[in-house]
Amino acid sequence: MSTSVQKPRGRQFFANPGPTNIPDSVLRALDRPSIDFHDPDFVEVYDEAFAGVKRVLQTQHHLFMYNASGHGAWEASLTNLLSPGDTILVLESGYFSEEWANMARAHGLDVRLLGCDWRRGVDLAQVRAALSDDALAVIKAVCVVHNETATGMMLPLDEIRAAIDAAKHPALFLVDTISSLGSLDFRMDEWKIDCVVGGSQKGLMLPTGVSFTGVSQKGLEAHARAKLPRFYFDWTLMAKRPQKSFIGTLPVNMFYGLRESIRLLEEEGLPNVFARHTRLAEATRRAVKAWAGNNGPQLFCTNPTRYSDSVTAIMMPEGYDADALRETARARFNVSLGGGLGVLRGKVFRIGHLGDLNEPMLLGALSAVEMSLRINHVPHGQGGVDAAMEFLAEG
Ligand SMILES: Cc1ncc(COP(=O)(O)O)c(C=O)c1O
Repeated sequence: MSTSVQKPRGRQFFANPGPTNIPDSVLRALDRPSIDFHDPDFVEVYDEAFAGVKRVLQTQHHLFMYNASGHGAWEASLTNLLSPGDTILVLESGYFSEEWANMARAHGLDVRLLGCDWRRGVDLAQVRAALSDDALAVIKAVCVVHNETATGMMLPLDEIRAAIDAAKHPALFLVDTISSLGSLDFRMDEWKIDCVVGGSQKGLMLPTGVSFTGVSQKGLEAHARAKLPRFYFDWTLMAKRPQKSFIGTLPVNMFYGLRESIRLLEEEGLPNVFARHTRLAEATRRAVKAWAGNNGPQLFCTNPTRYSDSVTAIMMPEGYDADALRETARARFNVSLGGGLGVLRGKVFRIGHLGDLNEPMLLGALSAVEMSLRINHVPHGQGGVDAAMEFLAEG
């Protein structure tokens, strides 16, 4: 006797903070035969997509791309800019700032972690003090995760830049924009960022597999002095290649997809893309605030000035398992939610509201969460989806 597993029908509603939904036109652009990466037809696509990434980064500076997930671009940022024993200041924000710091330690860097309450985020006065106290400029780089995907918190890069300037500190400013680029306002040149780390699978609405670093002139000068070992990620080697980026074979299909995803972002207009993310994020927060009644799940981020508009992390009431709730949403309703990372595993679940997403897609995910709360007998306030709908209908 065969036992058949019931497969859910319809599309999976993907409310995961990365990878994210891939638009149909991007899927179609990716679906093409191989082409030699030196073929003039491909070079044209490459150049267009490459220039497009620079526009999304809002930079006139240098761009280096890799066949790698975001971790590869993190590694590129550290190994190209620093030397063994160098000190860096990492602003703690959550799991991803910890991971970047761990990678730095593995490369023999001396990491000073500016700690914080993960629910409120770092105190900028402490950033300024840490830099002002460093009269000998021992700190070579300040590393910041713009949008901490694990906690649903965004850090104000303009204010951090102002803190570095106020302390008159020469440190390089390194920023991870993996879950903010193409979703939240990001201005590499205006905020004088020396190295920005980005990836393909979130706001750029592509599969995972390409990551990149934007690098300022000051960054390139630091690179010339930096002595950490590197090869695959070496910017000097890359600059000698015809495509001025990538070591090895280029991911040709990804570039067809990338050109299309940038076309979509620019067709909508970046300010409109950001406004859509803010609207969907606010609707999500309204739903969570309603659920928080009756000792229900709460927004993990308790600092309203730092709410992330691309991902919301939600803390379960004590004694209730976030992963059981996610499993109900997946198995019963075919909705994929993000889980808690590191120490937050089981305590937090995350709703990704970034990339190719609209109101009904978000409301579908919120409805699945609300039903899953009920099925799992998790205490919660009523009317979360109603609160989200009311907000979305207004604007
Ligand atoms: C903010 C942030 N930084 C870094 C990473 C690591 O990127 P990847 O998983 O593509 O290696 C992620 C992944 O989700 C992230 O959200």
